[in-house]
Amino acid sequence: MAEKVTFSVIKADVGGYVGHSSMHPALIEEAEEKLGDAKREGTLIDFHVTRVGDDLELIMTHRKGEDNAEIHQLAWDVFLAATEVAKSLKLYGAGQDLLSDAFSGNVKGMGPGVAEMEFEERESEPILVFMADKTSAGAWNMPLVKMFADPFTTIGLVISPVMHEGFRFEVHDALESKRIYFDCPDELYDMLVFIGAPARYMIKGVQHRGTGEVGAVSSTQRLSLIAGRYVGKDDPVLVVRCQGAFPAVGEVLEPFAFPHLVEGWMRGSHHGPLMPVSVPQSNPSRFDGPPRVVCLGFQLCNGSLVGPRDMFDDVSFDETRRQANVAGEYLRRHGPFEPHRLPLDEMEYTTMPQVAKRLEGRFEDLEE
Ligand code: F6R
Ligand code: MG
Ligand code: MG
Repeated sequence: MAEKVTFSVIKADVGGYVGHSSMHPALIEEAEEKLGDAKREGTLIDFHVTRVGDDLELIMTHRKGEDNAEIHQLAWDVFLAATEVAKSLKLYGAGQDLLSDAFSGNVKGMGPGVAEMEFEERESEPILVFMADKTSAGAWNMPLVKMFADPFTTIGLVISPVMHEGFRFEVHDALESKRIYFDCPDELYDMLVFIGAPARYMIKGVQHRGTGEVGAVSSTQRLSLIAGRYVGKDDPVLVVRCQGAFPAVGEVLEPFAFPHLVEGWMRGSHHGPLMPVSVPQSNPSRFDGPPRVVCLGFQLCNGSLVGPRDMFDDVSFDETRRQANVAGEYLRRHGPFEPHRLPLDEMEYTTMPQVAKRLEGRFEDLEE
């Protein structure tokens, strides 16, 4: 059997430039230097460092499996080093996603986002990495269900013999810390009851039903739940294997032609359209948004990353970006009103406890 490769994407916001809008190149340089050392030492097969908005994204390949302490330590050390660079330039929110001082072998639950998958590399292995800023992990629910369970998006589900059986979805309940699997298309309606509420239920991964092969993995943790207080939106990542028994590259990208509404945007407290953009365009500036998604494509070659291609750097997404601007403008005109502003229990910032306490005595009972 061929040796397995592990594809790890680990990300964190360790300092913004200017404010939360983008990233200073010095942080990327620092990360590239550190990961370059790890590649030379043989810890990594290959890597690519990128960003979306203010999030530093480490895309790494290796042979050490998922949840490997050495790889997680490496990512943590890179984030610490980049934090020092951010501090030296007094960048904004230096080290904001590093929630703990003591590293204990796994970055999960410590602030950074993680999506990892181990698999046997196929004869040709096209892989897409989606990275979003100013939004939360549930943002992938709609695109994932369209990619792997919607025949109006992925015609392969209808006409490709190797996809016709469908896919198995792993769904997490972020509130209760539970997981459940749904086999689609059979259980699609049951699954949608849950994942249509993406603030609580999030798709963690997708497998091929026939072979059990992993097709997609997302980062699902919610920073606000981990820290028990506001520490920024999760700004999630998603890795998808394409072609053959999985949706084609074009089928995987197609759901992003609709700029669906996600939670995030200004102060992590608003609904806004998810706008697909190239990496250089991922600078959420208008009202700290609207939320952005970038996608880098690679061909794996014995674990080496051939690429990237900047997949949303394509005029065919121009109309989507225009629609996102129109939808964003329409929502903005609601100002502090729902549904632009999130419901009370979903906002990352709130003054409600203080204001409610101060006005406590002024609320009178209504007569029956
Ligand atoms: C949202 C985000 C920004 C900040 C906002 C206020 O995810 O990062 O919209 O919430 O700029 O930031 P602070 O509280 O750091 O002044
Ligand atoms: Mg930030
Ligand atoms: Mg961010």
